Amino acid sequence: MNVREVRADFPALDPGRVGGPWVYLDSACMSLVPRPVLEAMQRYYTDFPGCAGRSVHRLSEEVGRRYEAARERFARFFGRRESGSVVFLRNATEAINLVAQGTDWKRGERVLISDREHNSNLVVWQKLSEERGIHVDILSLSEDGAFDSERLEEALARGVRLVSLFHTSNLDGRTLPLAEITERAHDRGAKVLFDGCQAAPHLRLELDRLGVDHYAVSAHKLLGPNGVGTLLSAPGALEELRPLLFGGETVEHTTLTGHRLRPPPHRFEAGLQNYSGVLGAHAALDYLERVGLEEIEERQRSVNALVSRALRDERRVRLLGPSDPAERPSIFACTLEGIDVHDAALFLDEARQVMVRSGRHCVHSFYEARGLAGSLRASFYLYNDDADGQALVDGLVELLERVPPGAASGTSAARSAPAPPRDAAPRSGAGS
Ligand SMILES: Cc1ncc(COP(=O)(O)O)c(C=O)c1O
Repeated sequence: MNVREVRADFPALDPGRVGGPWVYLDSACMSLVPRPVLEAMQRYYTDFPGCAGRSVHRLSEEVGRRYEAARERFARFFGRRESGSVVFLRNATEAINLVAQGTDWKRGERVLISDREHNSNLVVWQKLSEERGIHVDILSLSEDGAFDSERLEEALARGVRLVSLFHTSNLDGRTLPLAEITERAHDRGAKVLFDGCQAAPHLRLELDRLGVDHYAVSAHKLLGPNGVGTLLSAPGALEELRPLLFGGETVEHTTLTGHRLRPPPHRFEAGLQNYSGVLGAHAALDYLERVGLEEIEERQRSVNALVSRALRDERRVRLLGPSDPAERPSIFACTLEGIDVHDAALFLDEARQVMVRSGRHCVHSFYEARGLAGSLRASFYLYNDDADGQALVDGLVELLERVPPGAASGTSAARSAPAPPRDAAPRSGAGS
């Protein structure tokens, strides 16, 4: 599918929409949703609105069958042999919490995280440190996010029980070497958990072949709906975890004084499930497969290369992460000398319909350590084209001209510059 065909599948990118067309460069926060996903979700409520596994009537049977088919799809997509490896949860945060809180930690045991994890892979460890006495060791990455095998070996030598790292960074788009980290961790007797939120949308994964113990993803970053996350665990790994929640759906049998839990993954899916969301997430994986992950990453790389090349010589644009966009295909992140990043994001939206993310991206410690208020992050996905990249470049160049170096900024200098009307920046070639 070419980018024009892809864009036509996304109602949010309809060029005829009021206030449009939108230049959506915030997919690392949340991707847009294509029609087949919306239809799959709606079909649940219109065609088989039942509760899986509760009633014996046809609606219940049908939704149960489709829910388990979605589990199969997730397993195959991520390279797990058994669908029993897939737990449906609310999001990646819950998946990480299930591994963290569900492990039988003993006082003094160690977990290793990096110095730039999303709060979802930080706070739960801090709580476990307070409450169960585990040690949280920090693996420092280099300034541009590069991984150092020796530092990992030094950390592992302290006797780590679990290595819990992002796979692709939400700060700068750099991907850590999952295979190498898994192998080194296993050699030292540690298990691995990867936060795959930013990697799963564009990387082909073979989790069983690589021996990854646990992998967490969120559907809303890979064309699916909000409120669906999955934990994809190695065969047998789920047996060792204690569920976060207990109740209906988690048990085979109960008496007034006891219960027998269902086997994994069902014991982790308490209460009525998000059937519509899970079926939508299934359709999202089908869609990604149809376009092809390799094709998607190539598109990200090409738009990112255009942006990175065009802004390379702008002295006031300070890039985060590796200089080569091929090493961070999904993200272009920067700070702007003399311009508040929220002001910049507002300007881009108001003047150019370009939507990016600004701020500290749930990694506060990274910015505090460097005395930065935040960064501006543009993220690219399968529906972005060169015109989108060019709109970002033009908007930033215009902003830099409007706010000269040393001009008052930090609150609203950029916004107080008169913004051109919304239709003043037509997207030549949009959709091509
Ligand atoms: C790297 C990373 N980890 C974790 C999360 C949290 O995901 P969720 O809010 O879906 O649990 C995000 C979301 O932005 C992320 O980018």
